Amino acid sequence: MRRHLLPVLLLLLAAAASSLLAPAAQARTAFACAPGGPATSLPFCRQSLLLHARARDFVSRLTRAEKVRLLVNNAAGVPRLGVAGYEWWSEALHGVSDTGPGVKFGGAFPGATAFPQVIGTAAALNASLWELIGRAVSDEARAMYNGGQAGLTFWSPNVNIFRDPRWGRGQETPGEDPTISSRYAAAYVRGLQQQQPSSSNRLKLAACCKHFTAYDLDHWGNTDRFHFNAIVSPQDLEDTFNVPFRSCVANGNDAAVMCSYNQVNGVPTCADESFLKGTIRGKWGLDGYIVSDCDSVDVFFNDQHYTRTVEDAAAAALRAGLDLDCGPFLAVYTEPAVAKRKVSDADVDNAVINTVTVQMRLGMFDGDPAAGPYGHLGPKDVCTPANQEFALEAARQGVVLLKNEKRKKHGGGILPLRAAAHRTVAVVGPHAEATVAMVGNYAGKACRYTTPLQGVAGYVKQAVHAAGCADVACAGTQQPVAAAVDAARRADATVVVAGLDQKVEAEGLDRNSLLLPGRQAELISAVAKASKGPVILVLMSGGPIDIAFAQNDPRIAAILWVGYPGQAGGQAIADVIFGHHNPGGKLPMTWYPQDYLRKAPMTNMAMRANPASGYPGRTYRFYTGPTIHPFGHGLSYTRFTHTLAHAPAQLTVRLAGGHAATSSAATASLLNATTRAGGERAVRVAHARCEGLSVPVHVDVSNVGGRDGAHTVMVYHAAPAASGGGGAPERQLVAFEKVHVAAGGVARVEVAVDVCEGMSVAVRDGVRRIPVGEHRLVIGEITHTVTLGVEQLGGVGRDAATRKQGNSVKLEGTGFCAFRLCKGGDGDLKKVREGTGLVKIVEMNDCKRLNWKERRRMSFLPHRQCFLILKIRAFNLFQGETSKLHQPVEMQLHMGS
Ligand SMILES: *[C@@H]1O[C@H](CO)[C@@H](O)[C@H](O)[C@H]1NC(C)=O
Ligand SMILES: *[C@@H]1O[C@H](CO)[C@@H](O)[C@H](O)[C@H]1NC(C)=O
Repeated sequence: MRRHLLPVLLLLLAAAASSLLAPAAQARTAFACAPGGPATSLPFCRQSLLLHARARDFVSRLTRAEKVRLLVNNAAGVPRLGVAGYEWWSEALHGVSDTGPGVKFGGAFPGATAFPQVIGTAAALNASLWELIGRAVSDEARAMYNGGQAGLTFWSPNVNIFRDPRWGRGQETPGEDPTISSRYAAAYVRGLQQQQPSSSNRLKLAACCKHFTAYDLDHWGNTDRFHFNAIVSPQDLEDTFNVPFRSCVANGNDAAVMCSYNQVNGVPTCADESFLKGTIRGKWGLDGYIVSDCDSVDVFFNDQHYTRTVEDAAAAALRAGLDLDCGPFLAVYTEPAVAKRKVSDADVDNAVINTVTVQMRLGMFDGDPAAGPYGHLGPKDVCTPANQEFALEAARQGVVLLKNEKRKKHGGGILPLRAAAHRTVAVVGPHAEATVAMVGNYAGKACRYTTPLQGVAGYVKQAVHAAGCADVACAGTQQPVAAAVDAARRADATVVVAGLDQKVEAEGLDRNSLLLPGRQAELISAVAKASKGPVILVLMSGGPIDIAFAQNDPRIAAILWVGYPGQAGGQAIADVIFGHHNPGGKLPMTWYPQDYLRKAPMTNMAMRANPASGYPGRTYRFYTGPTIHPFGHGLSYTRFTHTLAHAPAQLTVRLAGGHAATSSAATASLLNATTRAGGERAVRVAHARCEGLSVPVHVDVSNVGGRDGAHTVMVYHAAPAASGGGGAPERQLVAFEKVHVAAGGVARVEVAVDVCEGMSVAVRDGVRRIPVGEHRLVIGEITHTVTLGVEQLGGVGRDAATRKQGNSVKLEGTGFCAFRLCKGGDGDLKKVREGTGLVKIVEMNDCKRLNWKERRRMSFLPHRQCFLILKIRAFNLFQGETSKLHQPVEMQLHMGS
C-alpha cells in the first residue's frame, strides 16, 4: 500500500464519498436489509435466494453513477436501498492491524493479539499453527467488526515469494519456498475465512492473497515498485511466482486476490486480462473479487504511462477483470470511460457483482449481524489469555537455533543455559528492550509486550541491562558500547539482542547490505571478547543477515534467529535460552553472504542461475554458491534421525479419462508426452489423472538425544537427471510435517507427495510435465528412489476416423497411441500441434496452436464446409517419430463447423 495520490479533484470526491460513509463506529447499525428498512422485501435481501441472484438483483437496481462509487475501497452507500458505505481495506497479516483505514483501535478495543511476523511463523513449519493463528485472528476481527471498529475484508496474507534477500517486505511473507508459501497461504486463509461447508459458501471473513505477481522489489537503486517492469519467464512464473497464489485460490478458497504495482513483461498486473480473467478467475476458479494495490490504476496511468488517457486506464483495469480499486481512480473515471465506450456497463456490473457477492457471503445483506452466527463476539474475545498464550506459543515455535557450540565437558551444547549456573545475566544490544520492533510491519496495537530483558529477568536472579547501541542504526562514535562490554565482563552469561527493524527493512525500503547496521557487529564482537560467561546472540530481523563474523567467532556460543517474534517475543526467547522450550524452527529462506548482492541485481527476476553471465540464481532451489546458513537450517537441543518405514519404489501415472487400451467407450483422453532430445519422456500434468496420485512416504523419526522436541520432516524431490528441458530445481521441498518426539522415542510421520504438483517439472514454456523414470526423494539422510511409469497403452491401429460433436470435432482411431498433427497442403509439415494420444478418442477442440486466421475460419463460417486438413502421423509413444515398429499413418481430419 502507499499514500494515496490525490489530485484536488480526487480529494474532493473522496471527501464527498466519505461523507456518505457511515462513521466507523456506527457500522454495526448500518447493515443492509434491516427489518423495516427500505429494501427488506426486495429480492437481494431474501436469504432464500442464491447469493449470485441476490447480487445481480441488487446491481440491477443501481444507476451507473451509484455503481462506479462501489468500485473503490471506500465504497459509497446507497441510502435509498438502505445500504451503508463500506471501507474494504482492513489488514490482518499476523493479528488485526490498523495499517488500513478499515480498522480503528481505541475504546472497547484498545489492541489485538500481535502474533509473530509471518516470516517467523513460517519458520515453525507447522501448518496447523498457521491455520490456528488465522482462526484466532478471525475471532478478534469479527469482534471488532461487531463493535464497528473493523471491516470484514482483510487484505492478508502476503504470499509473494521472498526471492531477493534485500526485500524490505520479505518479513511479511512465508519465505522463499513455493511449497511452504502454498501451504501457508491455504492454511492461513482457511483459518481467517472459516468458510462454511459447501452449499452456503458463507464466510466469517474474506481474506486476500497479495500481491499478484512477481512482486518483491520495493525500492532498489533507481528502480521502485511503481515503475518496475519485472521480466519473468513462463517457467519461473509457473514453478515459482504463481505457485502460492494458485494454492491460495484453489486450495484455500480465498475470496480475493490483489494485483501488484509492478508490470510483468510489459503489462501492469492490474491491467493484465490474461492474468486476472485468464489465470486467477479462469484457470484457478477464484470465487471472489480482485482488488488493486492501493492506487495501482493511478500508478499505471501516471507513473507508468501505460495508457494515453485516464479513461483508457479505467477501462483497461475493468476489462482485465479488476473488480475493486484501492484508491479513487475508478470512481472518478469509469463513467467517462463508459460514456466514451471504452468499457461496457456489463464490465462494470460484473465487477460490482463480484464484490457484492462477497459482502453477501459475509452476511452483510442479512440484516442485523448481531443475530448472525458471529454476533456474540465482542471485546471479551480480543486479547484473551488464550490468544495471548497462543501468540507466545507461536513465537516459541518460530525460534531458529542457528548455532550452538559444544560444551567443553559433558558434551551437549552451551544452550540451554541453566538458570542456577547463570545467576547474573547481562542483556545487551539495541533490541534488549524491544517492544514495537517485535511485531514488524502490518501490525496492530499489541495487547501488551514482553521484552527480551523482561523475559530473561523472569529466569535469573539478576538481569543487567546495557543497550550498547542507542538504536538499531548504531551509527557514529557516540554509541554506549563500553557500558555493554562492562556488563558482559561481570555477568555469568550475556544475551545480545541485535538485528534490524523497520528503519532498515520495510515497505518501500529494501536493504542494500546484508550486514548488521552501523556498529552492531563491533558491539557484538567487543562484548564477546570481554564476556566472562557464554555469549548468546539473538537476531531479530525479517531478512537474512550476513553474520559470518559471529558464526566464526568461537566466543559466541550460540545464535538464535527469532524473526520479529510478536508481542510475547521476549518471553519466547528466554524460554528457549533457558530450555523451557526446545527450539524446532527452520530457516524459510537462504542466508546469503554479502558478496551475493554484487552478482544478483535485484531487478533480475530469473530464478535460474546463468553460469555464462555469472548470475548466481536464487533460493536454495537454484543457487548453489556459499551460504551463511542454508534454507531449512535449524538446530535442536536434541538429535533426530530418520528411517524410511514405507514408500513405494514404483508408481504408475494414469492418463486422464483413459482406462484400458481396449475400452471403446472411454471418454476423450489424451496423453501429451512429448519427445525431446535424448529420448526423455514426460507426461503433461494436464493429461495425467492427478486426483489421489501421490507417493505415500512413511518416515520414523527417532529422538536420539536427551530432550523432548519437535521436528519437521522435510521431503525434497529431485527429478530424473535429464528432465526439466533445462532448469529443473536442484531439489525442491515437496512435503513437510512436524511431529513431537519424546527423548528416546520414535514417531512415525506420514506424508503424501503429490505427483502432479511435487514431482512434475515446469519446462521453459511453463508447461508442467511429469518426467517418466527415476525420481529421488530426499529426507534428511535418507534417499529413496521412486520409478514413475505410465500405464500401458494399446497397439497402434490405422483406422482413424472423425466424428463431429457439437462444435468440436473428435478424432477417433482405434488404438493409435500417438499422433502428431501437421498443417495440411503441399507437404507443409509445419508443426501445429503435437501430442501423444491415448488409444481411443482424441479431442480436437483445442486449436490453440493454429494461427489466428485458421481459428477464425473454423469458428466463423458455420454453414460452410470449411475443412482444415491435418495430416496425422502416428508414432510410438516413447520411441519417437521414427519408430521402426509402426509406420506413420496419415489421416485426414476434416474440421467442419
Ligand atoms: C503445531 O502447532 C500447534 C498449534 O500451536 C500445536 O498444537 C502443535 O503441537 C504443533 N506441532 C508440533 C509438532 O509442534
Ligand atoms: C502437447 O504439447 C505441446 C508442447 O507443449 C503443446 O503445444 C500442445 O498444445 C499439446 N497438445 C495438447 C493437445 O494439449
